[in-house]
Amino acid sequence: MSSVPGAWRRTAEGAGLLSADGSIAPTIFAEMTELAAETGAVNLGQGFPDEDGPADVLEAARKAIADGANQYTPGRGVPSLLSAIAEHQERFYGLAPDPATEIVVTAGATEALAATLLALIDSPDDEVVVFEPYYDSYAACVALAGARLRTVPLEWPDFQPDPQALADAVTDRTRVILVNDPHNPTGAVFSPEIRAEVARLADEHDAIIVTDEVYEHMSFGAPHVPIATLPEAAPRTLTISSAGKTFSATGWKIGWVHGPADLVTAVLTVKQFLTYVPASPLQPAIAAGLRLPDAFFAGLATDMGAKAAILGSGLRAAGLEISEPAGSYFTVADAAPLGARDASDFCRELPRSAGVVGVPLTAFVTPENRDRYATLVRFAACKRVDVLEEASRRLAALSAG
Ligand SMILES: Cc1ncc(COP(=O)(O)O)c(C=O)c1O
Repeated sequence: MSSVPGAWRRTAEGAGLLSADGSIAPTIFAEMTELAAETGAVNLGQGFPDEDGPADVLEAARKAIADGANQYTPGRGVPSLLSAIAEHQERFYGLAPDPATEIVVTAGATEALAATLLALIDSPDDEVVVFEPYYDSYAACVALAGARLRTVPLEWPDFQPDPQALADAVTDRTRVILVNDPHNPTGAVFSPEIRAEVARLADEHDAIIVTDEVYEHMSFGAPHVPIATLPEAAPRTLTISSAGKTFSATGWKIGWVHGPADLVTAVLTVKQFLTYVPASPLQPAIAAGLRLPDAFFAGLATDMGAKAAILGSGLRAAGLEISEPAGSYFTVADAAPLGARDASDFCRELPRSAGVVGVPLTAFVTPENRDRYATLVRFAACKRVDVLEEASRRLAALSAG
């Protein structure tokens, strides 16, 4: 039997990270990826692209290695990347973070989120408010940081929160309001009213706003608006993003946080004892990426929107109802019209019945709220067009059968 210390073990079990026998809890993602490999199904379960990003960015990484950028970088990040992040925020959003004091480069958005939550959470009474369903690392990090998660439901079909439910969730115990926009797993983009309400509530209850904007260049309608652009939110907002989605380089794990210097210093203090620094040669490469012309960034939203449309028509033709995504890699479909009662069972059968893999939305919710999302399935559109067309052809068999 393992000698994992009891308190940590209870926390990890509570957060669903460990099974009762002490082994690492299996995730539905691993199970579905295994099923895809076993059955030859098209894997629309996991959110990573099947094509490389811009050649200039890849070449810049090769060059950086050849030029000797292979040792530790300054703790905050390489100066060229810090400036490129500041320039990017200015170019797209009119924000002007100071590269010397208001930005930190991290090992992906994942480390940025972990370091931020560990830095900001002070006591077991602190609460972190998130919209549910949520990206799975949020609940894990909140549990490991020793705080409480408060969830605000996003409901089918538009996945916008009820402002009253949001207002009820934010109290003086709220330390952080964590907003992912565009949203994984639902594909929602939050309305200006919701952004304003988050800013108002944070101010009223003296909470910090943390945003996760990794899909910032994949908003299909109006351009993305960071909450940090709202003047009342700016002094209390940490903005997180990463290069993974924008440059189709999810394995590079280069992310960043920016915001007021005192908050960023708190994040840096924790982050230096997590990874210390992310991969040196990838940082100048992402700096080159962030300086690509506007057309590259505009193309991301257009391409992903077109891919989401192909996926959406395939899902509809299969007899599923879909929630029209406004951004991100993802489309949520309701399998109830096909007689499904439980999306986990439906997803376990789908590779054999149709040769396609999706993941149940219940993988992104707290156990007590599973019923609300029982028949919903997330599909990823970040695949080649021919792959999405093949998936659509295969899905059509569901309605035929
Ligand atoms: C909402 C959201 N946040 C964070 C991440 C992780 O980003 P990174 O790979 O940069 O750590 C992902 C990756 O899928 C995501 O969907």
